Amino acid sequence: MSPPAQNIYDNDAFFAAYGKLRRSVEGLGGAPEWPALSAMLPTMEGLNVVDLGCGFGWFCRFAREAGAAQVLGLDISEKMLARAREASDASIAYRRTDLEELELPAAAFDLVYSSLALHYIVNLGDVFTTVHRALVPGGRFVFSVEHPLYTAPSRPGWHPDDSGRKRWLVDRYLEEGARATNWLAEGVIKQHRTVATYLNLLLGLGFRLRRVEEWGPSDAQIEAHPEWALERDRPPFLLVSAER
Ligand SMILES: C[S@@+](CC[C@H](N)C(=O)[O-])C[C@H]1O[C@@H](n2cnc3c(N)ncnc32)[C@H](O)[C@@H]1O
Repeated sequence: MSPPAQNIYDNDAFFAAYGKLRRSVEGLGGAPEWPALSAMLPTMEGLNVVDLGCGFGWFCRFAREAGAAQVLGLDISEKMLARAREASDASIAYRRTDLEELELPAAAFDLVYSSLALHYIVNLGDVFTTVHRALVPGGRFVFSVEHPLYTAPSRPGWHPDDSGRKRWLVDRYLEEGARATNWLAEGVIKQHRTVATYLNLLLGLGFRLRRVEEWGPSDAQIEAHPEWALERDRPPFLLVSAER
């Protein structure tokens, strides 16, 4: 049996800091990767959708507004779910669920979506297996995770070289497993795995890959936010669209 999930989003200090991020305040429009991720989505009209690690429920509300028939949002954090429920459309169902023990009915969903939650999961193979079974044939699995170049290092962060230029130093890339980071709070545990592992888990289950993006800011985004230029040296997010 796996140890219980960390559930760092229910930690008061972490939750307070997370709530101040631009994506938490502004929602999908405040997430710079949203244009690329949303371009991977099918037309939402009439779809049955589940969001794994739904957080404040921004995507669940977007899906309903875009015409999804039913939306289920799952998250382990009571605090995140409380905020999602406050803002919610009564037709969205939110359920407290540890994705490490995910169970979903077979062939029940047209779209399984997940944004920046699956890099917390130890039993990712089990989650992907459950997702595959829960999708109707032709159904889509669209997700983002922190990019493996971002999750790999022992000391994630920008380190100046001799010329003062900031470098992202990658080590332990092929050594998969837990990484303790100090992102918003000390000792936040994320699970590092390689790009090949993410994709081979999907291919091994019979998913067809539709699109993979190693997201970095566009020229227009850098013009608006010059401080993001560094993100092109090390993509922060991996975006994947797969079809059952
Ligand atoms: C970075 S937030 C992303 C929230 C939302 N998907 C978004 O993009 O705005 C990660 C979410 O994953 C959830 N999460 C982390 N580990 C989880 C687990 N084991 N089971 C369910 N949810 C989990 C957290 O509680 C948090 O709400």
